Amino acid sequence: MTALRDHLVFLDGELPALGEAFYGRLFELHPETKPLFGVASRAARKQMLMQILSSVIDIDEPWVQDELNTLGHRHRTDWDITPQMYDWVRDALYDALRTTSGANWTPELAAIWTTRLDAVCSAAAQGSITDEDTA
Ligand code: HEM
Repeated sequence: MTALRDHLVFLDGELPALGEAFYGRLFELHPETKPLFGVASRAARKQMLMQILSSVIDIDEPWVQDELNTLGHRHRTDWDITPQMYDWVRDALYDALRTTSGANWTPELAAIWTTRLDAVCSAAAQGSITDEDTA
C-alpha cells in the first residue's frame, strides 16, 4: 500500500500530463467516446480522473463500491455509457499511468494498478448494466 500511496503523491504533481495522456489515449483508441464529453467538459473530465484515482485506495470498502455502482448507473442513464466502455477507460488510464510515470514505474506498481483499476472499473460497470444488456 505504501508503494501505491507514494505513487499517488507523485501523480498529484503530474495531473495535467496524466489527464492529457489518459483522454488522449481514450479518444485515440475509441474516437466514438470523444463527442460524449461536451466541449466544456474540462471540469467534469478532471473530476472523473480524480474520482478514479481516489477510489483505488479504498476499493475494498463496500461504500466505495456502492458509490461507484451508483455512478455507473447515472453514467448509463445520463450519457448512455455502456459496460464495455469501462474496459476502454481502464486500459487507457493504465497506459497513461505507465507512460506518465517514466522511471517511477515498477513491476510492483504495474501489478497494483492492474488489479485495482480493474476493481474500480468493474464496480462502476456493474451499476451500468441494464435489462437491455441481459435480454
Ligand atoms: C470507474 C469509472 C468512472 C468514474 C469513477 C467516472 C467518474 C465521473 C465523474 C465524477 C464525472 C463528473 C460528472 C458527474 O459526476 O456528474 C464523470 C463524467 C463523465 N464521464 Fe465518467 N467515470 C467513469 C467511467 C466513465 C466511462 C467508462 C465513460 C465512457 C467513455 C465516462 C464518460 C463520462 C462522460 C461523458 C461524462 C460527462 C462529461 C461532461 O459533463 O461533458 N465515464 N465521470
